[in-house]
Amino acid sequence: MDTILKLEHIQKYYGNEGNITQAIKDISFSVETGEFLGIMGASGSGKTTMLNCISTIDTVSAGHIFLAGTDVTELKEKELARFRRENLGFVFQDFNLLDTLTVSENIALALTINHVPAAQIGEKVHEIAKTLGIADLLGKYPYQVSGGQKQRCACARAVVHKPKLILADEPTGDA
Ligand SMILES: Nc1ncnc2c1ncn2[C@@H]1O[C@H](COP(=O)(O)OP(=O)(O)OP(=O)(O)O)[C@@H](O)[C@H]1O
Ligand SMILES: [Mg+2]
Repeated sequence: MDTILKLEHIQKYYGNEGNITQAIKDISFSVETGEFLGIMGASGSGKTTMLNCISTIDTVSAGHIFLAGTDVTELKEKELARFRRENLGFVFQDFNLLDTLTVSENIALALTINHVPAAQIGEKVHEIAKTLGIADLLGKYPYQVSGGQKQRCACARAVVHKPKLILADEPTGDA
């Protein structure tokens, strides 16, 4: 099996001298392609911090993170942005849908930024929306749909471009 994600001795500190919080203390693990991993822990134990580091949204203080064989702790910001949009799908805790875009346009965003030809976008969006039971809502705005429907819209956006790794922070939490 392929290793899609590998963390090697990750540490993360917030703050600076005199006021330091160690949010992650030497974490190592790996995840194989096709595996589903859930992480549980007390509030403040470092779950979101770790997810942000894996998402390449935040940087580690020490250690290495390999995503599909690439050490993302070594990438520069420009390479990171590209790596992120091509390989990762995110579902954020508050979903981060854009209120000025319809459900359909929100989902399409993940394809547009990856330069998928316009002619293919409609079909791909429709296919994933159908799978997740939100095909009837494609023309609505996020504020016109329910919490659970927003959640499924965010999930559709995270998977429509078929990322190698999907990262989600409490995706089943109350909406
Ligand atoms: N930007 C920051 N600056 C300083 N300390 C931070 C920052 N973000 C988080 N922390 C601290 O780092 C620790 C880990 O926080 P984190 O948000 O990763 O926890 P969590 O496991 O996701 O918690 P929850 O279950 O409540 O979401 C906590 O002690 C928190 O107070
Ligand atoms: Mg958290």
